[in-house]
Amino acid sequence: MDYIAVNKETWNKRTKVHLKSKFYDVEKFLQGQSSLNHIELKEVGDVNNKSLLHLQCHFGQDTLSWARIGAEVTGLDLSSEAIHQAEKLAQSLAINANFICDDVIQFGKHNRQQFDFVYTSYGVLCWLENLDEWAATVSGALKQGGQFNLVEFHPFNDLVNGYSYFPSRQPDIEQEGTYTENCDGEESTVITWPHSMSEVLNALIKNGIEVESFNEYPFSPYDCFEGLEPVEGKGFQLLRNEQQVPLVYAIKGRKL
Ligand SMILES: C[S@@+](CC[C@H](N)C(=O)[O-])C[C@H]1O[C@@H](n2cnc3c(N)ncnc32)[C@H](O)[C@@H]1O
Repeated sequence: MDYIAVNKETWNKRTKVHLKSKFYDVEKFLQGQSSLNHIELKEVGDVNNKSLLHLQCHFGQDTLSWARIGAEVTGLDLSSEAIHQAEKLAQSLAINANFICDDVIQFGKHNRQQFDFVYTSYGVLCWLENLDEWAATVSGALKQGGQFNLVEFHPFNDLVNGYSYFPSRQPDIEQEGTYTENCDGEESTVITWPHSMSEVLNALIKNGIEVESFNEYPFSPYDCFEGLEPVEGKGFQLLRNEQQVPLVYAIKGRKL
């Protein structure tokens, strides 16, 4: 099965649903609200006048939020619909941004541009089969001394929901609705892979990224999994046997 083609079609469909959702709240974004959360703002730090590549940027709200606080941004995504909408958003807000429609691995094979920051977040790694190739893309796109930030959903949450924690050569192929409140039960095929923490860290280390910090969070900024409960001022938590499940982790690295 051509997993790139299948996932691309799914994300093209999802983008149209997401644009009309309260989850993404495009109206508030157009009025000036940032889509970035406390976690990534703290993890990434000052991006003013720095070049930033945002991998798997979806329809660009986070990319353009980084631009609003001074970054010179490039966003990349597999979905042609998402990139089309990102370009439209940038245009209507008169924000200078470059968007590329490509598979992250293919992009890495021909990219020659290097950035001060490479950033990627929330629901990105499961779509990729090979994290060594992903980490090579990250490393190749960073200037020497450049900063890498990943903010990702924690694989422990997948484990408690019955998915594999450890990497598997066989993808999960499922019919799923999307995660926004307006999904209306419409399903598409999703092809995903589990990636353990050690797999992610080792892929980065092997590709010349020195890990500076690794943080885990018991809260998700998004209400996008079953069983989450809101916690005032924090986001959403998931309890198992009255204990908090880690929901998000963040890696900060530097290109050697
Ligand atoms: C869950 S979204 C990322 C979430 C993002 N932080 C946001 O704005 O909500 C995952 C994104 O990965 C993209 N994607 C999936 N497979 C990809 C691939 N092989 N190369 C590049 N982008 C990919 C999808 O099109 C989608 O936009």
